[in-house]
Amino acid sequence: MLLVHTIQDLQTHLASLRADNRTVGLVPTMGALHDGHASLVRRCVSENDVSVVSVFVNPTQFNNKEDLQKYPRTIERDAALLEQLGVDLVFNPEPDEMYSEQEMHRQFAFDFGGLDTVMEGKMRPGHFNGVVQVVSKLFRLVSPQRAYFGEKDFQQLAIIRRMTRLMQFSVEIIGCPIVREASGLALSSRNERLSEQERTTAVNISRILMESRTLTLSMNTRQVEQWVTDQVNAVEGLEVEYYQIVDQTTLMPTNTWQHAIGCITVYCGPVRLIDNIKYDL
Ligand code: PAF
Repeated sequence: MLLVHTIQDLQTHLASLRADNRTVGLVPTMGALHDGHASLVRRCVSENDVSVVSVFVNPTQFNNKEDLQKYPRTIERDAALLEQLGVDLVFNPEPDEMYSEQEMHRQFAFDFGGLDTVMEGKMRPGHFNGVVQVVSKLFRLVSPQRAYFGEKDFQQLAIIRRMTRLMQFSVEIIGCPIVREASGLALSSRNERLSEQERTTAVNISRILMESRTLTLSMNTRQVEQWVTDQVNAVEGLEVEYYQIVDQTTLMPTNTWQHAIGCITVYCGPVRLIDNIKYDL
């Protein structure tokens, strides 16, 4: 496995790795890798001749400086895991390798078609501009045939699908299911910041989401939104920021259970956790 830090090294090595029309798969990450990332990487390795993983804590998608500073950076541990998983090339650039001064400070313009006005987009202004900026740049640099993203960040996945269509990238976007602990807690780099007690409390989020699936015959989408919000808020130590049941493509509130997904953001103590559940299974 090669670990490179510059665009030039990335492209030189990619050119030789992709000789003979070998297929390239890309898994964009911000590092601090856990089993959720490992599941994306395993799938990438099994479906492509060459697997590339980017490890880059993208400054332009943070709307909170402290969050950016605190974000865990564990490249040695990440590289060891990626080598074990059979990755060919890891791209770990510094911010000034990816962005000019101007790009770093001017918000990236993109027509989100409204996908950024709800949920995470509403709570974290500018966040998805940074995500689209970095992912489109990575697509241009790597030109993968396939790219892998987790369904835990469901809104991000919907936005990346739109970006791929609008910018006409010829890459297949593959959404991979949420990986959960045996307790049901969705894996996240942020779980590392939970105390023992908070971790036990956080398990209630997925428990309540799963339980809400049993209510779809007796309640409508708005009633289930309210039920989940009330149940989670009733757990000491949890506070819902939003729970919305939306259409899986438009991300707009929906009145039907077909193609519906419930997306939640909850504060567990100081840690902001997200999760979601599909209702049309
Ligand atoms: O999901 C993430 O970790 C990031 O948003 C991504 C897609 C790697 C872009 O920085």
